[in-house]
Amino acid sequence: MTSKNIVVVGSCMIDFVSYAPRLPQPGETIHGTKFMTNFGGKGANQCVAAAKLGGRTILVARVGDDLWGDQYIANLKTEKVETKYIQKTADATSGIAQITVSDTGDNQIVVVAGANEYLNVEDLDEARHDISGAGVLVLQLETSPEVAIKALQLCRGISILNAAPALDEYDRRLLTLPTIFCVNETEASVFTGLPVTSLAEAKLAAQDLIKKGCNSVVLTLGDKGALYLEKSSPESVYHTSPSVNCIDSTGAGDAFVGAFAFFLANYKNLSIEKMIESACYIAADSVTRPGTQKSFSGREILEKCLKAVFLTR
Ligand code: RIB
Repeated sequence: MTSKNIVVVGSCMIDFVSYAPRLPQPGETIHGTKFMTNFGGKGANQCVAAAKLGGRTILVARVGDDLWGDQYIANLKTEKVETKYIQKTADATSGIAQITVSDTGDNQIVVVAGANEYLNVEDLDEARHDISGAGVLVLQLETSPEVAIKALQLCRGISILNAAPALDEYDRRLLTLPTIFCVNETEASVFTGLPVTSLAEAKLAAQDLIKKGCNSVVLTLGDKGALYLEKSSPESVYHTSPSVNCIDSTGAGDAFVGAFAFFLANYKNLSIEKMIESACYIAADSVTRPGTQKSFSGREILEKCLKAVFLTR
């Protein structure tokens, strides 16, 4: 097992999570059953997912100059994430996410970026050496697209852009610069303008993204698994997810991306197909518990995962 740094440039959010029997309709008030405050944000979630599996992780991010900011940095330290590039931002609140989770485990999320909006290209200068030397660089779109583009330009290793939340209008370099462009069905639909409601449609959307300039595409399909397609090969790789009892699907995509980055950084002899299958296994495990980071398993899942993956077929 080789071990390379995983550098994540991205968001930290405080998640305010309400559990309710179902998601409310527009204009409707419903009674919830439980409330939790969690550490979230796609960037930090993906970083923590990789760290919990044993990855060497560094997060470049901004938190607010408030109590949440201090608590967030302490949480990342507990999770063994390198925090030297995390800044507290004067006059900004920490980013927050308002999340509702239904009894079926589905969710609705509104994020208010707060300090995350202040992460800028100058912040990357300080981290330049670690970004360019990263084995795997991971980005999302809860921080500015300009920051993502600059980080991608600095990177000499493998890069993954989890293009979430999706953008209606975007700089084409977001598609062409990353080694791997990773989206779910909804995001793929926004970036391509195509419907993505089945595996067949997902394949067409992935092909369209390659035509638009992506080097390779991972399209996650929730409990149906994930699809991988690369420019140099017409054959896509598809893997299903293990069937589990879904309690809370929030952050499953982050568990997938964090695990995928972990395998890319640490298991260079594992095939892409096995990496996709393993990341699906780890994402599926995360939905069996509430929350995002707190639902991610530690290193103990690795052995189970690799055993399961190598016993199939
Ligand atoms: O992907 C899940 C995450 O999205 C949540 O933790 C929330 O903070 C939003 O960023």
